[in-house]
Amino acid sequence: NSVFQGRSLLAEKDFTPAEIQYLVDFGLHLKALRHNNIPHRYLEGKNIALLFEKASTRTRAAFTTAAIELGAHPEYLGANDIQLGKKESVEDTAIVLGRMFDGIEFRGFKQADVEGLAKYSGVPVWNGLTDEWHPTQMIADFMTVKENFGHLKGLTLTYVGDGRNNMANSLLVTGSMLGVNIHIVAPKALHPAADVIAIAKKFASQTGAKPMVTDDIKAGVKGSNIIYTDVWVSMGETNWEERVKLLTPYQVNMDMMRATGTPDDQLIFMHCLPAFHDTNTKYGEDVKEQYGITEMEVTDEVFRSKYARHWDEAENRKHSIKAIMAATLGNLFIPAVPDLE
Ligand code: CP
Ligand code: NVA
Repeated sequence: NSVFQGRSLLAEKDFTPAEIQYLVDFGLHLKALRHNNIPHRYLEGKNIALLFEKASTRTRAAFTTAAIELGAHPEYLGANDIQLGKKESVEDTAIVLGRMFDGIEFRGFKQADVEGLAKYSGVPVWNGLTDEWHPTQMIADFMTVKENFGHLKGLTLTYVGDGRNNMANSLLVTGSMLGVNIHIVAPKALHPAADVIAIAKKFASQTGAKPMVTDDIKAGVKGSNIIYTDVWVSMGETNWEERVKLLTPYQVNMDMMRATGTPDDQLIFMHCLPAFHDTNTKYGEDVKEQYGITEMEVTDEVFRSKYARHWDEAENRKHSIKAIMAATLGNLFIPAVPDLE
């Protein structure tokens, strides 16, 4: 059977660089099929469980619509709907869900939980975000980069902000797998953990990528093709005061975009979303009242600028998740994965 059949996507490092690149290209192919109304019902008759311990707009919407367009039935099981980890162990839940569903998506806190689901369910499990990794986001993100530049290798993507969260970890490792130079620009207290840097360096030595971790904004953003940021306080965290203080100098604004020195047609801005760029939410009003700021990780000016690609990136969540589900569970044959470009 094909190289992807029956496998789970729990963290990027579980796949080879060539396999990750294949999923990026397969996502672009499925996007073209969808935009041309060509059917691609590779999951006809399958049932997919969508487990969410944390809130989600994009991941839930992407998995739901992707499953339906692939011919499968998605079933949402929220934190208050099932007993997972409360009255019933991850192991027992996994065994039961594996008897009924053909595949399981999990978004939650602990990486160990998504790994437990994979271990005991016997069906493919896809990590829809944990505190450590956000692998499905990576396929969408590098689809977006490839759509813009036509290639991946040799580009420089600079992530500015909380260098210890799931997005920083995933970008550092996945970019290094794909030959993209990832710069993590963050205050020292928020630099990535040593084990994450070690994984990235191992892949970088295979692909020629040049990862960099620095607190020096000027050096970090220079020559970048992609400026990327994420929220300063991730789901499950509460350390607002500390983050606002540490990360205010790291806000993505027009001065930072210019500091790249990159020509306009070679420079884009990305954000996994949700973004804090104005006060048009209850959350925004609260932060303004408490900290006196109306913008956080990115200014509204950059968010609405010609550099912005986050809406394409959000759409690509759906096509990339289709690629991941179809490759690992679908009725299609992928004979071999071509080498990295
Ligand atoms: N980017 C992302 O994962 O968005 P959601 O939290 O809305 O799913
Ligand atoms: N780092 C963010 C990503 C949201 C998609 C969080 O975990 O909340």
